[in-house]
Amino acid sequence: MTGFNNNLTLGTALLILFQLCSIVSCTTSTSITRNHTIRDGDSLISEGEVFELGFFSPKDSTSRYVGIWYKNIEPRAIVWVANREKPLSDHNGALKIADDGNLVLVDGENNTVWSTNVPPKLNNTVAVLLETGDLVLSSDSDRDSRYWESFNNPTDTFLPGMRVRVDPSSGENRAFTSWRSEYDPSPGRYSLGIDPMGAPEIMIWEGEARKWRSGPWDSVIFTGIPDMFRVTNYIYGFKLSSPPERDGSVYFTYVPSNISDLLRFKIRFDGVVEQFRWNKDSRNWTLLQLKPSTECEKYNRCGNYSVCDERKEFDSGKCSCIDGFEPVNQNQWDDGDFSSGCRRRVPLNCSQTLREDEFMEHRGIKLPGFGSVVPLSNSETCKDVCVRDCSCNAYSFVRGIGCMIWTRDLMDMEHFEHGGQSINIRLAESELGGKENSKLWIIILIVIGAFLLVLCIWILWKFKKRVKAILWRKKDFPFSEMEEKNDYSVKSSSSTIQVLVGDLVDTPDLPLFSFNSVASATGDFAEENKLGQGGFGTVFKGNFSGGREIAVKRLSGKSKQGLEEFKNEILLIAKLQHRNLVRLVGCCIENNEKMLLYEYMPNKSLDRFLFDESKRESLNWKKRWEIIGGIARGLLYLHRDSRLKIIHRDLKASNILLDTEMNPKISDFGMARIFNYRQDQANTIRVVGTYGYMAPEYAMEGMFSEKSDVYSFGVLILEIVTGSKNVNFRGSEHGSLIGYAWNLWSQGKTKELIDPTVTEIRDINEAIKCIHVGMLCTQDSVIYRPNMGSVLLMLESRMSHLPRPRQPTFHSFLNSGEIVEGQDVATVNDITLTTVVGR
Ligand SMILES: *[C@@H]1O[C@H](CO)[C@@H](O)[C@H](O)[C@H]1NC(C)=O
Ligand SMILES: *[C@@H]1O[C@H](CO)[C@@H](O)[C@H](O)[C@H]1NC(C)=O
Ligand SMILES: *[C@@H]1O[C@H](CO)[C@@H](O)[C@H](O)[C@H]1NC(C)=O
Ligand SMILES: *[C@@H]1O[C@H](CO)[C@@H](O)[C@H](O)[C@H]1NC(C)=O
Ligand SMILES: *[C@@H]1O[C@H](CO)[C@@H](O)[C@H](O)[C@H]1NC(C)=O
Ligand SMILES: *[C@@H]1O[C@H](CO)[C@@H](O)[C@H](O)[C@H]1NC(C)=O
Ligand SMILES: *[C@@H]1O[C@H](CO)[C@@H](O)[C@H](O)[C@H]1NC(C)=O
Repeated sequence: MTGFNNNLTLGTALLILFQLCSIVSCTTSTSITRNHTIRDGDSLISEGEVFELGFFSPKDSTSRYVGIWYKNIEPRAIVWVANREKPLSDHNGALKIADDGNLVLVDGENNTVWSTNVPPKLNNTVAVLLETGDLVLSSDSDRDSRYWESFNNPTDTFLPGMRVRVDPSSGENRAFTSWRSEYDPSPGRYSLGIDPMGAPEIMIWEGEARKWRSGPWDSVIFTGIPDMFRVTNYIYGFKLSSPPERDGSVYFTYVPSNISDLLRFKIRFDGVVEQFRWNKDSRNWTLLQLKPSTECEKYNRCGNYSVCDERKEFDSGKCSCIDGFEPVNQNQWDDGDFSSGCRRRVPLNCSQTLREDEFMEHRGIKLPGFGSVVPLSNSETCKDVCVRDCSCNAYSFVRGIGCMIWTRDLMDMEHFEHGGQSINIRLAESELGGKENSKLWIIILIVIGAFLLVLCIWILWKFKKRVKAILWRKKDFPFSEMEEKNDYSVKSSSSTIQVLVGDLVDTPDLPLFSFNSVASATGDFAEENKLGQGGFGTVFKGNFSGGREIAVKRLSGKSKQGLEEFKNEILLIAKLQHRNLVRLVGCCIENNEKMLLYEYMPNKSLDRFLFDESKRESLNWKKRWEIIGGIARGLLYLHRDSRLKIIHRDLKASNILLDTEMNPKISDFGMARIFNYRQDQANTIRVVGTYGYMAPEYAMEGMFSEKSDVYSFGVLILEIVTGSKNVNFRGSEHGSLIGYAWNLWSQGKTKELIDPTVTEIRDINEAIKCIHVGMLCTQDSVIYRPNMGSVLLMLESRMSHLPRPRQPTFHSFLNSGEIVEGQDVATVNDITLTTVVGR
């Protein structure tokens, strides 16, 4: 009730204010024309009433400035100032269109104080404040002819939609300049912009000196801000325009994940960059981040050839020389003055015949400044390039950038707890000599270890029968080890696994086959019975007596990797029964052999039909429609209807098998994860899956949920309808099939996407619906993606109105077309890094 009253009084107040305004003639308008001038007290309002342009005085000052700020937001956040160097001293200023067509600010004596200064060829100009906060001077008859924009002449604030030019030929672009002090808009000492050299990066300068750098852009994040992964709002935001625009330049832009969010970056008068988001509920600006925010983020805090580590105490060595280097001035260093940095203990002796170990690898590093990007020819590696060049101090191969080398001193390095790059730093041979000893030790340890292992195996073998009996009895089945070791956060659901293990042991459904029987069925794993090579093993066709055909997945014995996936698959699939999931008929565990036996699918996998010109035609629309429906039902069963909630994590065309009637069956549960019903999302440091099918939040942040399967399913739908692969897609200027689909869809040309073999009108309508659903499933943001329940509903019902999909922005990773199936977790100095290993 009181809320209503408040609203009422507020409304009345506004009304009174409005009427007051009209009496005192403080007018608001939407454009400045020859006939319409903005005087002090008037204001210009953007379409949508988000921004406002007018005259203002900073706190404690009587000077008048023309600026742009957010309408109705207090305290006022000024995003742009016109006459920052020449304030007006009284309230008689006016903003108008001059005779030459320029937008000018004049004082009471008609003297021009500020002007847009466009060469005088303008006709009939008009100035408009756009929705984005951009003040644009254009021709009245042709609003697209932009003679001048405030976005191209910014002050201290970077707004969404602004473009910052990245042009190596014109050098550093100091686009934004701070205020002189908190209440003085005149240009201050600090600037913010882009260093386009090498891989572009964001930079803060104080005068000419660098104060902070973001680390090179790897087409997804700035590598020196590894926690860009964590700030979800941030991740989709930045984008480097490509290909170069009409004027041959490339630009950085920023688009918030939620267009209606008000976001701004500002270089503060004291040289700190702040990112704010307007919080509508608490009605204040939330500070999202601040750079530089830590001691180590300050530019080259530790001097050359030295690494800063935020986790260490300052006096006891936040800064440390990298291996093979020593402080230039030990006394200063000991006193905590690191400015002189470090130098080589042993000078390099560069020759063409360098040995393997002349580089030392450092991981989790913010890459040093002044690197250059070198294109690699086919046969050479990044290391070769560096070896060839005697001035090369270090090299690093960065995903999304390529080969980087450093020929100057290495500076501004930081050691991150999570993320960061690995860099290989050149050292004199003798520096690595010390390694020889430790190498010897390693060899001795390996020999001892191997001996012990052999002993163990011998003992196990000796008591084979007994061990086997123990293994099969209860929990000691080697799953317990997997639970401890696994990174996936289903600790809460471990009770589920226990139950399942118990069940599995009792279950008569999963027969154990002997190695000999499987071997004879597959003709001793003969080459001609080989069906394919999976991620963790080879698949053979087996013929048991009685004519029963079976597919046997034989895990490669060496692969430690495979063992985990093997257990996982048994655990999951043994309990699942659905006509759209491939059925496990048994397994074989004997000696070092681990095998899974499935029902045999004579038509093999979907990709063989879909991506093969000659076979594609045999998949008519009716069949494709059924396949889409079948996969959707299988997936829904995994997510919802089975006893457990299961995320498949590697859904792709080659994992959809087809039986004799071409019914689809989802296979390969090696990477699937069990979820608690209450659990919606998990995080993994092991990102495994296949690029092109991986949802952005999973590929980038390792976050997976049933929505990441929905994403893969969406990709699959688009592939089935179009008959082309998402990665290495033919219309590659659109980045990917997803981007291409969106472009066509938004132009109302969805039909062009459909495989030309589909001709019936009814079929085309169904196909269009499938594309629409596919686009809904492949939206960047998890929140907007439907779950499998709604997907099935959309597909099966005659719903005519589906939600509008959002434009995808996540392309960059898809282009690589790489398959990621293995993983590698390396631990260095207690830092766990995940590297994704391509196959
Ligand atoms: C400006 O005013 C004159 C006369 O009042 C009118 O003829 C002309 O069309 C106006 N121009 C614009 C751009 O509104
Ligand atoms: C300024 O110029 C306008 C039109 O050009 C004119 O009407 C006005 O009288 C001038 N004011 C002064 C103080 O010269
Ligand atoms: C300016 O306007 C005049 C008449 O209004 C027109 O004749 C002339 O072509 C225009 N000039 C330009 C450069 O558009
Ligand atoms: C985007 O912002 C609008 C307005 O605040 C809000 O209603 C909507 O829920 C937001 N969407 C998301 C996905 O956060
Ligand atoms: C914003 O508002 C919230 C809730 O009213 C408050 O807790 C927070 O301190 C405010 N933040 C600022 C920067 O004023
Ligand atoms: C650090 O390296 C840079 C780049 O090579 C060099 O210009 C600078 O003089 C070095 N600083 C010191 C203290 O040696
Ligand atoms: C450099 O290497 C050459 C050949 O290995 C050797 O003869 C020479 O003494 C080395 N020089 C230094 C400074 O180590």
